[in-house]
Amino acid sequence: MRKPFVAGNWKMYKTVSEARHLVSEMVPGLQAVSGVDKVLCPPFIDLLAIAALLEGTDIGLGAQNMHWEASGAFTGEVSPPMVAELCKYVILGHSERRAYFGETDATVNRKVQAALAHNLVPIVCVGETLTEYEAGRTNEVVFRQMKLGLTGIELPDGNALVVAYEPVWAIGTGRAATGKGANAVVADVIRVALAEQFGSQVSQEVRVLYGGSVKGDNAAEFFAEPEIDGALVGGASLKAPDFIRIVQAAAASQA
Ligand code: 13P
Repeated sequence: MRKPFVAGNWKMYKTVSEARHLVSEMVPGLQAVSGVDKVLCPPFIDLLAIAALLEGTDIGLGAQNMHWEASGAFTGEVSPPMVAELCKYVILGHSERRAYFGETDATVNRKVQAALAHNLVPIVCVGETLTEYEAGRTNEVVFRQMKLGLTGIELPDGNALVVAYEPVWAIGTGRAATGKGANAVVADVIRVALAEQFGSQVSQEVRVLYGGSVKGDNAAEFFAEPEIDGALVGGASLKAPDFIRIVQAAAASQA
């Protein structure tokens, strides 16, 4: 059985003081839910403050990106050891990084290697654009992102990696995929690619999330699907009641 996993990707929202406020609003409600891995991914600059607030809780912390080199003259970048001192998780290959900051399958691959080498659990994002979706190219695109992003990677076990299927057309648009549609991509493409890379046992252990306009009132539809193990939440993770409701839905799906 795969434990449900719900992560909030705050993107470029919340100053340190705003982040502290949001986390203190969220912690009691999140702590009240067991049986779900709960993770907050605030901007880099908030991580130190939030790590302190999460100490002693069962809420995990993640970064939204990182460089692959351990150190060096890379102005403005953040290294794996810097992230690993504060976080257990790191989101890699988010579609916004691919679209706006030149992230490619090859750089995602280097970052995944680096994350694993520093005992970070990468949350690797894949997903097709609207044009690709409308052209019927979803499976081909997602398979390529999986294969190239994970090439040469070895895992100690399935818990060392999380994958997020985030169709770009569903991100921030209010137009979520359907549970059935997302489940089919996970079953037919993502788990197949995982099995080719890591073998069938590990492919069944890796948690695969859905992301794209997940809200309190549609989360259960995704969690009811057999191959979807949780959610990567953007906008709704910036409001304590909404995010808590999604985490509660994940717990309820196990009952
Ligand atoms: P929204 O939930 O705002 O659509 O964002 C999804 C996302 O990109 C999470 O990484």
